[in-house]
Amino acid sequence: MPIQIIVGTQWGDEGKGRIVDWYAAKSDFVARYNGGDNAGHSVTVGNTLFKLHLIPSGIIHPHAVAVLGNGMVINPQSLLAEMEMLKGHGILVGPQRLRISHAAHLITPSHQALDKALDAARGKGNIGTTGRGIGPAYTDKAIRRGLRFSDMMESSFLNKLNTLTREINNQLSSLGADEMDVAKIEQDFIQYRSILLPYITDVSILLSDAHEKKAFILAEGAQGTLLDIDHGTYPYVTSSSTTAPGVFSGLGLGLTTANGAIVTGVCKSFQTRVGSGPFPTEVIGEIAERLRGSGKNPWDEFGTTTGRARRVGWLDGVLLRYAVRINGLTELIITKMDILSGLMELKICVGYRKNGVEIRDIVFGPSNLEDYEPMYETMPGWDEDICGVREWDRLPHQARSYIAAISKLTGVPVRMVCVGPEREQVVTAK
Ligand code: IMP
Repeated sequence: MPIQIIVGTQWGDEGKGRIVDWYAAKSDFVARYNGGDNAGHSVTVGNTLFKLHLIPSGIIHPHAVAVLGNGMVINPQSLLAEMEMLKGHGILVGPQRLRISHAAHLITPSHQALDKALDAARGKGNIGTTGRGIGPAYTDKAIRRGLRFSDMMESSFLNKLNTLTREINNQLSSLGADEMDVAKIEQDFIQYRSILLPYITDVSILLSDAHEKKAFILAEGAQGTLLDIDHGTYPYVTSSSTTAPGVFSGLGLGLTTANGAIVTGVCKSFQTRVGSGPFPTEVIGEIAERLRGSGKNPWDEFGTTTGRARRVGWLDGVLLRYAVRINGLTELIITKMDILSGLMELKICVGYRKNGVEIRDIVFGPSNLEDYEPMYETMPGWDEDICGVREWDRLPHQARSYIAAISKLTGVPVRMVCVGPEREQVVTAK
């Protein structure tokens, strides 16, 4: 059984949650390998909208085991809130169904406070982080003072926690921010530990054994390719490996498990971004408002985690080709095709111009795109409502041409197209 990897090809928010939910129906394990509760995955099942930040959306299916990998940074308070929310919907979230890597790092309230203080100190050049403590938790991992779930299994845990809180307090006070209450954090973590200990697992053994026994493993990426710490629009990125290769280090899977992997890139039919950083195809005005939506619907372009209005623009085919290269994508899924209905002219960026020179591919990474002028291929749009379409041949021919143009530009087949937020609102491409 090959592993299937689901990654975002843009700046996150491509709609990966509902795609994971779709494939989870046939998966034995659904595993997150990077990031933390900076992610926001929305899945609509019937009348219920699930907003998940940490637990893979596969948990909604009764048989799949959800796994949180060592590549993640996990805020136990958010995790417990999410577990409660799921239980409220009648979804079983015991240790049999949810496993947390012993080597995943803990996010504490101090990390969150430091994240906010550091981004505020950047002033105008701020990254616009989600304020969830992601950067500081990964920093602590890299400088080797971080706390892992395995630390909760040791008697030295509270000492380590208190030392870390005091060290971060020094940083906070040097930034002019309020210090955190050491005793309160200790009390809270005593409670988190008592609940979460049974969930701690050697995820590498669990998944490697499962793979050997031909179980189907679905790896769920968070954020998107262009937010990858190495390959994204650095420094306007998150702090983890969001791309497909991160699966193997982030879950403790050996490279041979990659043989025959299906690498699915999820791509919105247009481009969005939250936070700062370059965005060559960004649009403002009427078309932007049309693409973003009013904010009244849960699927409008407002952050699941922060509620911020997303920046929007035309699909960037150059960046999409880059995502194909970095991830080794074997297929694409295009989400939110229905949002394009009613736009009588569509554009796809096929190259950039800088100082009179045409650029067709990303060289030296996508960080320096600030003054790149996009070159567009313009295509006719369609007026029909496509939300009810389930068969490829019933899509307007302009929509099929748009998809064909994406395939041609990237050299990767489009497997499926989403025409609405519901589970069943998908069209398998021919
Ligand atoms: P951080 O991950 O909170 O450090 O934020 C770094 C950058 O990544 C900011 O621009 C965030 O808006 C962005 N970001 C982080 N997580 C997501 C996500 O799940 N979707 C979209 N953008 C995200």
